[in-house]
Amino acid sequence: MIFRRGRIPAGVPRKLLLMSDKSKVGNPDKPKMRKLRIAIDGPAGAGKSTVARMLAQKLGYLYLDTGAMYRALAVTAVDKGIDLNDPVKLGEMARQVDMRVREDNGVFRVWVDGVELTDRLRGPETDRAVKLLAMARPVREVLVAIQRKLAEAGGVVMEGRDITSVVLPDAEVKVFLTASLEERVRRRWKELKDRGIQVEWDEVKEEMVSRDQKDQERTWGRLVQTEDSVFIDSSRMTKEEVCSAIAELCEARTRCCTGS
Ligand code: DC
Repeated sequence: MIFRRGRIPAGVPRKLLLMSDKSKVGNPDKPKMRKLRIAIDGPAGAGKSTVARMLAQKLGYLYLDTGAMYRALAVTAVDKGIDLNDPVKLGEMARQVDMRVREDNGVFRVWVDGVELTDRLRGPETDRAVKLLAMARPVREVLVAIQRKLAEAGGVVMEGRDITSVVLPDAEVKVFLTASLEERVRRRWKELKDRGIQVEWDEVKEEMVSRDQKDQERTWGRLVQTEDSVFIDSSRMTKEEVCSAIAELCEARTRCCTGS
């Protein structure tokens, strides 16, 4: 997979490029606090995307939805007819394709080989494919390298499953965000319903349990709560409350680093 911030094909927006350049602007003599890297992990339906997006907007940071990157590769593998149980073939594909990402008013957009896949990332079929693709270590290695590169300049809110443990173990703010199974099923069922996709409650629940299992049984990059992550259970919290709680962690971290 080729990923270059500086070489974006015609028609593909350039926000990542601009964001990375912006961090270099300013008075070089003035000591500056490095922008934070905020890492959020948790199971499906915990509310990570919503909260990460809100937080990034509030702080003027870049929002990075790593699940969308796995999803885009799953869609590509299905399109190419690649066996989702063959990690070697999946790894070859991941290395060869050209993936571009951009955040656009809170929407995380993904292109693979110049084709935008954003509208195809969510839905039961992709859910089934991505949980298999995410088991392939060669694929994970490719995506982890890209994700680290995207976070290099700081000023990012990155969410996924292995961000606090593998991608950014030294992130300044680390959160494990979860919610009860029933609440996560309710959120996912409502999200699908709002998008006009009719599914049975039990079907959503089964899928959620199966994804939880797959997330936990990977030998590399499995979902874990690291010792230094702050645990937040969002079952009875609004998204605004969760966002404020993480923003407070960021403030505390900034105060402790600048001594102010
Ligand atoms: O967060 P999500 O539901 O969009 O994630 C889609 C899939 O990708 C899910 O099966 C877990 C996997 N994933 C992963 O293995 N590692 C990440 N950093 C992000 C997502």
